[in-house]
Amino acid sequence: WPANVERAAGTLHIGGLSVEKLAAEFGTPAYVFDEDDFRARCRAWTEAFEGADVFYAAKAFCSKAVLRAAAEEGLSVDVCTAGEIAVALAAGLDPARLGLHGNNKSLAELHQAVEIGIGRIVVDSLQEIERLDTIAGELGRRPMVMVRVNVGVEAHTHEYIATAHEDQKFGFSLADGDAYEAARRVAHADNLELLGLHSHIGSQIFDTAAFEVSAARVARLHAQLQTDLDITLAELDLGGGFGMAYTTQDDPQPPAVIAAALRRIVDRECAAASIDVPRLSIEPGRSIVGPSTFTLYEVGTVKPVTLSAGASRLYVSVDGGISDNIRTALYDATYSATLASRSSTATPALARVVGKHCESGDIVVKDEFLPADIAPGDLIAVPGTGAYCRSMGSNYNHVPRPPVVAVRNGEARVILARETVEDLLRLDLG
Ligand code: LLP
Repeated sequence: WPANVERAAGTLHIGGLSVEKLAAEFGTPAYVFDEDDFRARCRAWTEAFEGADVFYAAKAFCSKAVLRAAAEEGLSVDVCTAGEIAVALAAGLDPARLGLHGNNKSLAELHQAVEIGIGRIVVDSLQEIERLDTIAGELGRRPMVMVRVNVGVEAHTHEYIATAHEDQKFGFSLADGDAYEAARRVAHADNLELLGLHSHIGSQIFDTAAFEVSAARVARLHAQLQTDLDITLAELDLGGGFGMAYTTQDDPQPPAVIAAALRRIVDRECAAASIDVPRLSIEPGRSIVGPSTFTLYEVGTVKPVTLSAGASRLYVSVDGGISDNIRTALYDATYSATLASRSSTATPALARVVGKHCESGDIVVKDEFLPADIAPGDLIAVPGTGAYCRSMGSNYNHVPRPPVVAVRNGEARVILARETVEDLLRLDLG
């Protein structure tokens, strides 16, 4: 839960505002974003990684207000499409504080990035190195480039969000020597400046040892390149992917512990190679924005379903679903839910929170105990929905996407408006 959430007289409050008041004012479903909590998490990472550059990964959740808040707290921003660049620019961010990612950036995206003087571009293929060199030459610029290295670490997370095993699309293989060759080409390119190496092993990872192995491997390549090519690589980017707690079983390491572990590894590898320690950078998304938000839904129907003799489950249908949180269906993610608008002394019943979409996989929370008297009109809250929920939202079944309501210093404001059916119809040209 975000830091500023508490129960008062049975009802969930955020920054002193009751969920009933929020629902009445902004409607449901709605993402409720604790901006103070978000800012505190930004600071926790910058303080733990003092002297390093912390990039907020915009893919987790991207809006002008959120990127501006991250920048105000001293973070840079990782973007990976023209769309995310556009939001960052519209938010007034300095292009020099942006880093551009992506395995298939378009020519237009590369061109724009170079033209606006983006801080760094992380290259992901040999074709891209050539394209970027050409574009930079045409524009008479010399962009800072990082090379994405696939360090070959199998992180324990869902297959779709692991990015450093061999058979996947991101990065240059370390084991095959591809990463070495890519860095060498960037270093020798006419119009590119090799800033350093980058690695990112996946997302929602709790295993600090996996980050350490990755850091050691990429630091060794960093040292080898410096020695062989007689160059200095100013920076080493260790990526994001730090896990957050979705349930009480999840136990993420605090930023300071992660920072100390990674620094120790990089220091050790640099000392072994007798080179200076480069500036570090990291790119957390989920661990900053994920815990800052809960989704507020209204219950529409409650249906008991018999599972077997004597066992049943309450299907609690809410006014959103897979269109505002696809993670349960896509990654088998585990969420929790709570009755938010009142307290209840009814016995807890096995329940499943489902959406309003036309498929049975439309599940928000797979297994949860909710009071047996849960009823239409009740509000329920699902915490931990700040990352990859609104940003991966869809209009499945022509359902408009919910707003994001930010609460700061006890005041609520809409930072991303609720879509309307008219918004969707505007694109339907008949
Ligand atoms: N840096 C790079 C290069 C990335 O690809 C990502 C995430 C991040 C940083 C931020 O990772 P984070 O700290 O947020 O874990 N949609 C999936 C997650 C996909 C992550 C993609 N890349 C999900 O909902 O779990």
